[in-house]
Amino acid sequence: MSSTLPLHMYIRPLMVEDTQDVCDLESRGFPPEERASPETAEFRLTACPELCSGLFIRDVEGSEVKGEKLIGHILGTKIPCSADGTQNALITLESMGKVHDESSTTVGIHSVVIAPEHQKKNLATLLLTDYIQKLSNQEVGQRIAIIAHEPLVPFYERIGFQLLGENKTVKADPAFSKSKWCDMVRELVKEEYEN
Ligand SMILES: CC(C)(COP(=O)(O)OP(=O)(O)OC[C@H]1O[C@@H](n2cnc3c(N)ncnc32)[C@H](O)[C@@H]1OP(=O)(O)O)[C@@H](O)C(=O)NCCC(=O)NCCS
Repeated sequence: MSSTLPLHMYIRPLMVEDTQDVCDLESRGFPPEERASPETAEFRLTACPELCSGLFIRDVEGSEVKGEKLIGHILGTKIPCSADGTQNALITLESMGKVHDESSTTVGIHSVVIAPEHQKKNLATLLLTDYIQKLSNQEVGQRIAIIAHEPLVPFYERIGFQLLGENKTVKADPAFSKSKWCDMVRELVKEEYEN
């Protein structure tokens, strides 16, 4: 890993109190049409904080802790499977809104973002790997689904996501029709430890 990693870094679940910081980071990572609205961010952090993970740096001066700064996040909710129940859940325009289906076994990741000044230090890889490991071991669901811009497919493949093909449903929205979006899934497998 890079020797320029930020000091005093930690990961914790996001809470509704983090909504403003999450919105600020969304606006640094995504154009207006792609970012979560404050209402949607608040919904996610209220409905399922355990599926929303934040990467923070602690602001330390000497031995005094001055505060914390959010430098990366993942926002997820459980997304419903197809209406007839025959297909595994994938991201749809509807599930990108204020949707969380507790009975679903698929976690949809709606946002992955790292603050621009901290990108290219393996931090998204670190945050996603931690997220996958925690969800696997807590048996929260059976798989994670994400839609990715085509250039980011190799990045997600390196973290164990499998490419399923182009997501055609989101293209119905002009905000998503400009580029190619790909469905990717990652199975969640619990690690077994020997006694
Ligand atoms: C995508 C993102 C989360 C990656 O964060 P990061 O901490 O820089 O990622 P890592 O350091 O763990 O990995 C870097 C790798 O990501 C990939 N990557 C990042 N941005 C990329 C881009 N625009 N195009 C293609 N690959 C990209 C590359 O494979 C890169 O490896 P490289 O440096 O060897 O080329 C970050 O660039 C970001 O927040 N972007 C804006 C929001 C966004 O697009 N999120 C993804 C939603 S699908």
